[in-house]
Amino acid sequence: MSVTIDRDGEVAVVTVDNPPVNALGQALRQGLWDAVETLDSDPSVRAVVLICAGRTFIAGADVTEFGKPPVPPHLPDLVDRLEQATKPWVAAIHGSALGGGFEVAMGCRFRVALDSASVGLPEVTLGIVPGASGTVRTPRLAGVEAAVELVTTGRPVKAAKALSMGLVDAIVSGDLRAEAVAFARKTLVQPLPQPISARPVTSPDGAWWDDQRKAIARRARGEIAPLRALDCLRMAAEKPFAEAMAHERATFLELRASDQAAALRHIFFAERAAPKPAHLEAKPREIHSTAVIGGGTMGAGIAAALREAGLPVVLIERDAEAVERGLANLRSIFDGAVKRGKLTEAQARTRMEGVTAGSDYALLADTDLVIEAVFEDLSVKRAVFARLGQTCRADAILATNTSYLDPRLIAEGLPNPDRFIGLHFFSPANVMKLLEIVPTPTTAPGTLATGFALARQLGKIPVQAGICDGFIGNRILKRYRAEAETLVRDGTPIAAIDAAMRAYGFAMGPFEAQDLGGLDIAYLQREGARAAGQDVPETLGDILVRAGRKGQKTGGGWYGYAPGDRTPKPSDTTAGLLAGRIAAGPTLTAEEIASRLTSAMAAEGKAILAEGIALKPSDIDLVEVHGYGYPRWRGGPMFAAGG
Ligand code: 3HC
Ligand code: NAI
Repeated sequence: MSVTIDRDGEVAVVTVDNPPVNALGQALRQGLWDAVETLDSDPSVRAVVLICAGRTFIAGADVTEFGKPPVPPHLPDLVDRLEQATKPWVAAIHGSALGGGFEVAMGCRFRVALDSASVGLPEVTLGIVPGASGTVRTPRLAGVEAAVELVTTGRPVKAAKALSMGLVDAIVSGDLRAEAVAFARKTLVQPLPQPISARPVTSPDGAWWDDQRKAIARRARGEIAPLRALDCLRMAAEKPFAEAMAHERATFLELRASDQAAALRHIFFAERAAPKPAHLEAKPREIHSTAVIGGGTMGAGIAAALREAGLPVVLIERDAEAVERGLANLRSIFDGAVKRGKLTEAQARTRMEGVTAGSDYALLADTDLVIEAVFEDLSVKRAVFARLGQTCRADAILATNTSYLDPRLIAEGLPNPDRFIGLHFFSPANVMKLLEIVPTPTTAPGTLATGFALARQLGKIPVQAGICDGFIGNRILKRYRAEAETLVRDGTPIAAIDAAMRAYGFAMGPFEAQDLGGLDIAYLQREGARAAGQDVPETLGDILVRAGRKGQKTGGGWYGYAPGDRTPKPSDTTAGLLAGRIAAGPTLTAEEIASRLTSAMAAEGKAILAEGIALKPSDIDLVEVHGYGYPRWRGGPMFAAGG
């Protein structure tokens, strides 16, 4: 860590260098404090530029210090000290100014950002509120509405938006240091603006705050920090600066010690550890060209994800008609993105132009990576890989997206099986962040490393999984659903189970989710296993599917649905079909139901770890949070069960 001072005439340049992200650990806080003191007492200095070395401006408080007692100088005091500096400080922002980093920037008299930079207050995503005046200075800098958006969502904003919101004073391009020094010089001939803490703030009326509260409560679904942040912002808008600061600090310290903050920190570090497991030593292969076999739900989603990463895609389907359907699937993904404002028409066109579609495998002769996403049928997949073995380069990486089939059987007979690997995407593949990476015993270390590198390229979270029925995620899902059915058999109403899991933080309960996705997929998989001679006991879901109740698409499954209405209603037909299987049992509370189901998930997770299917508990937590909607603020089933 270093804080160095050099000079450009009467402007001093303070450079912070604390790799990797210039987090505000104690030593950096002290270093900055000392720099303010030094420069205040140097009469030859008239203005100061604060700039950072490395990939980013200060990315926030040092999260690794959060489990420990705070050590002075405390960050709010440092921000105050900066604001009271006798010379104007200019924060020169590149990369991200986040959390404490943006708070330091607000202690400066001016903020100049590189056009590629972003700023934000992501504290609520760590289960806390800003702790160094983020809730108090931001409304004074940019108004209450902007502050509420920034603080309660935790979403950073890009430089252009930050300028329009009043969060930064200028955007520059090119040489940030030179531009910031020039900006600092200009400020010397103009009257200085007031320090932010002295600026006025106008509070909206009570009804506005109530509306915000309702909207945030709906969105946050059990998460504490966003609502507590709103309380801090209201305090900042209605009370004197010092009182609001005291409230913010107390809230910050309280939440920092909360279970939710611990869970969110656990996921934060798990996400950052996931792409770089210790055993991954081989060099990944570079991927410049890709192909997807099968343009259905998954194939189209995977192709969209590859295009989003800028990779050209060849899409192979069975025949001309299927090629057209595959292209239409892909087009509808991009059209949807245009409608939601995520892509411009021109970007959508470019995405489509990067796709070559056909049914001729000769198109794959020079492809670096092929991902198969055809029907979940061993013989169909084997036939595809036989052709890939004949047509692709001997060093092309060949991957399967199978959900349940044994990748070893799919790869049987493939020449150079060391380049074969499972890459299990989640639906919709262009949206869901999880990628299960499934090596076989013959997969080469370089192929495995390429799977991880691809995940990085696609912005996915990679988790390595061993081979078993359902890998990590679907195996736990099966256990979760089985436990939910056990509760139903023991007399707990279906709707009570769904409500309990929603109250726990899932967007949907297990039965609503099955009705949405369709009960037939899992049913067909069970039937397949039965046909193969496995002993798979009859499930309640089997009874429903056999009676034609496959979920919303058939007008009913676990629940009934009125035509055109997706609201689940308890169904007499379902009750009648299952009546003989349901015993009268004790009434469980919502907490007891959630505990039964999450404990079942954790128990399966333990078994998965014992068998070496998952490498570490936090990988299982990432799978559940990013693939199955487990509430992030609960930290995942393994964390919730005590690690
Ligand atoms: N504290 C400690 N370590 C941090 C950190 C932080 N705030 N932010 C990132 N790191 C570490 C990561 O764990 C990782 O470590 P590793 O190399 O040992 O795994 C390393 O820095 C690099 O991080 P990324 O892989 O995330 O790097 P990227 O370049 O992809 O992203 C970033 C950079 C956008 C700055 C991203 O790291 C990020 O979003 N960081 C978190 C920012 C944040 O949440 N700040 C608020 C903190 S809370 C706060 O400030 C409270 C205050 O109000 C009092
Ligand atoms: P789908 O039925 O929507 O699409 C399959 C596509 O493959 C169809 O378009 C079909 O025409 C094409 N196809 C079949 N045989 C082919 C061949 N020989 N050559 C070229 N194309 C061929 O199925 P979906 O849901 O996309 O699933 C595909 C694979 O992804 C399966 O292995 C499935 O288990 C897996 N998967 C599915 C998930 C889901 O949620 N749907 C999630 C994760 C994996």
